[in-house]
Amino acid sequence: MPGIVLVGTQWGDEGKGKITDLIAQDFDYVVRYQGGNNAGHTVVHGGHKLGLHLIPSGILYPTITPVIGNGCVIDCKVLLGEIETLESEGIATGQLRISNNAHVIMPYHLDLDGASERRLGNNLIGTTRRGIGPCYQDKASRMGIRVQDLLDEKIFREKLAAALLEKNSILEHVYQMPTYTVEQICETYLPYAELIRRYVIDSAELLNGAISDSKWILFEGAQATQLDIDHGTYPFVTSSSCTAGGACTGSGVGPTAINRVLGIAKAYITRVGSGPFPTELSDEVGETLGREGHEVGVTTGRARRCGWYDAVIIRYAAEVNGLTDLCITKLDVLSALDTIKVCVAYECDGKVYKTVPAQQSVFHHAKPIYEEFPGWKTDITECRSFYELPREARDYIDFIEELANVPVSMIAVGPDRDQTIMRRWKPRH
Ligand code: IMP
Repeated sequence: MPGIVLVGTQWGDEGKGKITDLIAQDFDYVVRYQGGNNAGHTVVHGGHKLGLHLIPSGILYPTITPVIGNGCVIDCKVLLGEIETLESEGIATGQLRISNNAHVIMPYHLDLDGASERRLGNNLIGTTRRGIGPCYQDKASRMGIRVQDLLDEKIFREKLAAALLEKNSILEHVYQMPTYTVEQICETYLPYAELIRRYVIDSAELLNGAISDSKWILFEGAQATQLDIDHGTYPFVTSSSCTAGGACTGSGVGPTAINRVLGIAKAYITRVGSGPFPTELSDEVGETLGREGHEVGVTTGRARRCGWYDAVIIRYAAEVNGLTDLCITKLDVLSALDTIKVCVAYECDGKVYKTVPAQQSVFHHAKPIYEEFPGWKTDITECRSFYELPREARDYIDFIEELANVPVSMIAVGPDRDQTIMRRWKPRH
C-alpha cells in the first residue's frame, strides 16, 4: 500500500498542481491535509482552464476519491463555488469527501486577516487575506467552528454566540469595524450546511479503511516547507503544517502509512508575500525569470519575487520532510539564461553557513555563496528523457541531486502534463 506525500520544498508555487495532476491517476485517494483557499492551482479540462483553490485536483478523475482532511480550513462559499463550476463543466463531484473535523472560515476571520495586516504596516506578512490565519488561530485557542458543528444547528448557534462575544469586541474596539449577530451569520451559513452535509465524513476512518484495503493514497501538500508554521521563516509563514508530517495529523493516519515523500522544487525560486529570501534577484535576471516563468500568483494575482535555486534550503527540506525523491520543475525557464547560479552556502558576518542558520536574524542577512554554470540556451521543452537534455542541463540536475542527497526522479520541462521527464519515478499503471 503506497502512501505518498507530495510536498513543496521552497516558498510555494513550485508546480505541485501539475505533478499531482500527472501522478494522480496512480492513486485511489488524493488528500489535502492542510491550508485552505490560500492555495491555488489551474487544471485543464476539455480545453478549459479551471482554477481550484480548495478541492484536490484528483476530482477530475472518476476513479479517485478526493478528500479534504481535518487539517484544512474551509471557506464554504469558495467550496460551493468550486463544486458549481466543476458540475457546470460536466465534472461529477459526488465522490468528494470532507472531514467532519476541518475548521470553517467565518466572515470575521476574513475581516480580521485584512485588519491585522493593515495594523502591521511595513511588517505585514503579506497574507492572501482569505481568513486562513485567524481561522487556525481560533482552532488553536479552541474557539473554532468545525464542519461537524455547522451541521448541528443548536451547537452551531451556541459556538457562534460564544465566538462572537470576543470577535465583536475586537472588531469594534480594536479595529473600529462592523460587528455580526448570530442571526446574520446563520442566515448564510445554515444553508451552506445543507449543501455540504452529503460530503462530510470522518477522514481518519475513511483513510484507515482504505489503507486496510491496500488502496493507494496521495497526500497533497499546499504552500511549502519554508511557509510551514514550525519549520518555515516564522512569522512570514502560513498557519498550518505544510511539511510531510502534517499529512498524518491533517488526515488522521499514522506515520507508518507513508512510504515515500516527493519534494517539488522549482529550478529557481519564487516567493510571494514578505520575509527573508537570500537568493532574491532585483535585476534583469530576476525579471527574465518572472517573465519567462509567468510568475504571477493564481490566488492573489500578485507578481512573485524571483531568485536563484538555493541548495541550502533544499537540503533543509530534505531533512524536515524526509524526502525520498525530488522533482525539479520549470527547468525550461532557465533556457533563456547565459549563465545559471546555484546557492551552495551562505555567508554572514564572515562566517560560512552550509545549513539554514539556527538564528533567523542571520538568515535575514545571509549573503548567498554561488557556484556558476554555463546555460544551455536551447529549447528543451520537447525532451522526454534525461539523455535528450543538453549536457549543461544534465550537469545542473546532477549538481542539484548531489547537493540535496536525494534522487531527482522527475524533471518538468514545460507546463503540459506530458512535458515531464520520468527519470526514476515508476508509475503504477
Ligand atoms: P496566508 O496563508 O494567507 O495566511 O499567508 C501567509 C503567507 O503564506 C504569505 O506570505 C502568503 O503569500 C503565503 N502563501 C499562502 N498560500 C500560498 C501559496 O499557495 N503559494 C505561495 N505562497 C502562499
